[in-house]
Amino acid sequence: MRNIEEQYNIIGNSDEIKQVIRTVEQVAPSDISILIYGESGVGKELVAKALHKLSLRKHGPYVIVNCGAIPSGTIESELFGHKKGSFTGSVEDRKGFFETAHKGTILLDEIGELPAETQVKLLRTLEQGEITRVGESISRKVDVRVIAATNRELSKEVNAGRFRQDLYFRLKTIMIRIPPLRERREDIPMLAEHFMMRYADEHNISYKPITPQAMNLLTKASWEGNVRELKNFVESVFVLEDGKMIGPETVSKHLGNIEERSYDTRFPVKVNKETDQVERELILRQLFHIRQDVEDIKEKLSSIDEKDIVTMNKMKDISRYIQQSDTHDIELENEAEDRTMEEIERDIIAKTLEKYYGSKRKTARALGMSERTLYRKIKEYGLNNRV
Ligand SMILES: Nc1ncnc2c1ncn2[C@@H]1O[C@H](COP(=O)(O)OP(=O)(O)OP(=O)(O)O)[C@@H](O)[C@H]1O
Ligand SMILES: [Mg+2]
Repeated sequence: MRNIEEQYNIIGNSDEIKQVIRTVEQVAPSDISILIYGESGVGKELVAKALHKLSLRKHGPYVIVNCGAIPSGTIESELFGHKKGSFTGSVEDRKGFFETAHKGTILLDEIGELPAETQVKLLRTLEQGEITRVGESISRKVDVRVIAATNRELSKEVNAGRFRQDLYFRLKTIMIRIPPLRERREDIPMLAEHFMMRYADEHNISYKPITPQAMNLLTKASWEGNVRELKNFVESVFVLEDGKMIGPETVSKHLGNIEERSYDTRFPVKVNKETDQVERELILRQLFHIRQDVEDIKEKLSSIDEKDIVTMNKMKDISRYIQQSDTHDIELENEAEDRTMEEIERDIIAKTLEKYYGSKRKTARALGMSERTLYRKIKEYGLNNRV
């Protein structure tokens, strides 16, 4: 599970997203077609990519077709190809997306937009594994795994006569529904942190921690544009705000205009911890993500290069922030900058273990690492006799 999160960047710890990831793992290796359903911005494309990358076709082509963006007059030729002269402007034989995707996967995005005639042809391709180019009479075999995505409820489209029932039945054998963000609010802090770290990393700028009060506001917002909206929000805050930390005023300022209507008070956020404690946990978790990044990079590179230096600098930024912070109970004694990362890590693990009275499960959870990694580190740092 952790592997999928890391490899394909599907972030989240809600039961809902874990279920999605479990299904992805189960169905990816087969050739069966899959229907992904969810509101705009929930991560349908991300999941489709993970399905391809986890399949036996991962080295084959991965072709994305946005059915809603192609004019209905040309979609058939785009999908199945055409013979020279079959219509005005077709000056040479051309293969379509299905042939391009041979031995790989095709993502038919916004499948609900497919014109009725094309739906018939698609069903035939799904059933017989062959296509016929426009203007030709011979069939050609294609070996393609089909993933379809939609933000429309296809059963309603069927009832309204806009989508063929036989094609719907064929596609929905395996349906992966990705719930909207407001139905899995636990994912919001993790996603926000992830986007902040990634943004800081990509633009080589200092990471800005987000205060618990600000996070609380983010968790309450309705995010009608789902994960995409959250990602855009994080990026705009980074660009437009110069402050060192992201506080509640910043969040209200940016979300206020568009979100006043939509702060959702029906779902109280489960924040029953002391504010300082929440803050400390957030910082610790962030430190550990960075630490894990560094380990990853070190593993991949034999010698230090620019990326290590950037990550080390980011680590220093955060250490400095912790040092300067008014939050006195972040008990990182000594000058963080004078200590090695191992020493800082050892300290944090020891303190967290103490806090949770030696519970490795709780400690691992608070630090955002697997229990197995925690056990390894406890052994490595000789912390066994302290807990
Ligand atoms: N669980 C997640 N973890 C990390 N990033 C995510 C997650 N879900 C979505 N994203 C990011 O949010 C953005 C929108 O996701 P994506 O394009 O997959 O949405 P979509 O469901 O295909 O939307 P649309 O219906 O509008 O095409 C992308 O940048 C994607 O990487
Ligand atoms: Mg999409």
